[in-house]
Amino acid sequence: MQALDINGTRLYPGYLGRDAQSAVLAAVQRIFAAAPLFTPRMPKSGRPFSVRMSNCGVLGWMSDENGYRYAPAHPETGRPWPPLPEPLTALWDDVAGYAHPPEACLINFYGPEAKMGLHQDRDEADFSAPVVSLSLGDSCLFRIGGLKRGDPTRSFRLNSGDVVVLGGTARLAFHGVDRIYPETSTLFAQAGLTGGGRINLTMRRVTRPLGPDDAPSREHPAPAAAVD
Ligand code: SIN
Ligand code: MN
Repeated sequence: MQALDINGTRLYPGYLGRDAQSAVLAAVQRIFAAAPLFTPRMPKSGRPFSVRMSNCGVLGWMSDENGYRYAPAHPETGRPWPPLPEPLTALWDDVAGYAHPPEACLINFYGPEAKMGLHQDRDEADFSAPVVSLSLGDSCLFRIGGLKRGDPTRSFRLNSGDVVVLGGTARLAFHGVDRIYPETSTLFAQAGLTGGGRINLTMRRVTRPLGPDDAPSREHPAPAAAVD
């Protein structure tokens, strides 16, 4: 599938068709049953995020008063994150252009009022791996800028099934979600989920690969907490 290039960020509109989106949503529902959504908090202030989060993979991203970090277990249940489901690893293999598997998949749930401020994804040790993002459910207004916070930004709509790859020169691009467009997708309702919303899944390589045959391992040390 041909990608659109937006200042180095790749956008694959409609990468997943409806049936494939439903299959990923079913996998996400199973992940939420094992690793329930939690409300992350801002470093230092402890102010809650408006998005709720979960993860799958050997590591999961989280944030609280002690900073942003990857951790091998859910902050509330203490259990390891569920494994990455096959459709997500297949997506990574197709678009990442990176020889090693992802270790973390952050799952963000946005209610109608949720948003995410402009930020960089920089808690990973290997920026040669891209961040691969899949959107499900209601559409959002996504904003992407440059490598400096004050750089000009562009905004575009992300719809259910769209894939974005932040890689190469755009790996550290500032990005955020300005708003959700409620009731723009029937995907969640069809799965019996009321209230709508948007789910965004972002796969990340967290640690540097140890060698050519490297696979995700629970022995990998999580990188130290980093607070911007
Ligand atoms: C993120 O940057 O973690 C999420 C981006 C999105 O929701 O599209
Ligand atoms: Mn991000």
